[in-house]
Amino acid sequence: MKKPKHHIFVCGSFRANGAPQGVCNKKDSLQLLQYLEQELSDRGMTDVAVSSTGCLKLCDAGPAMIVYPQNWWYGRVETEGAVDEVIDALEKGQPAARYLLDGE
Ligand code: FES
Repeated sequence: MKKPKHHIFVCGSFRANGAPQGVCNKKDSLQLLQYLEQELSDRGMTDVAVSSTGCLKLCDAGPAMIVYPQNWWYGRVETEGAVDEVIDALEKGQPAARYLLDGE
């Protein structure tokens, strides 16, 4: 298996008991994850992996996601348009500055 060039972790708000709760899930982060995966596929960006996670402890800034290996932490990625901006920036090798969390 070829390792991905980038890995995007999207908060699904999962808790230890298995029930998704929390800000990101309530703000439909898992629907945004589906859109993210579809958009990456549509653009042929097969070197980007996407995974859902438990709470990233960024609840005040949810929906939250992190892009590795760049270690870009994003918050308030609330719409498909915002996801598009994240992907557009990634294609250019840059962070999407509007959503970047800088030591919050
Ligand atoms: S629920 Fe997403 S960061 Fe906490």
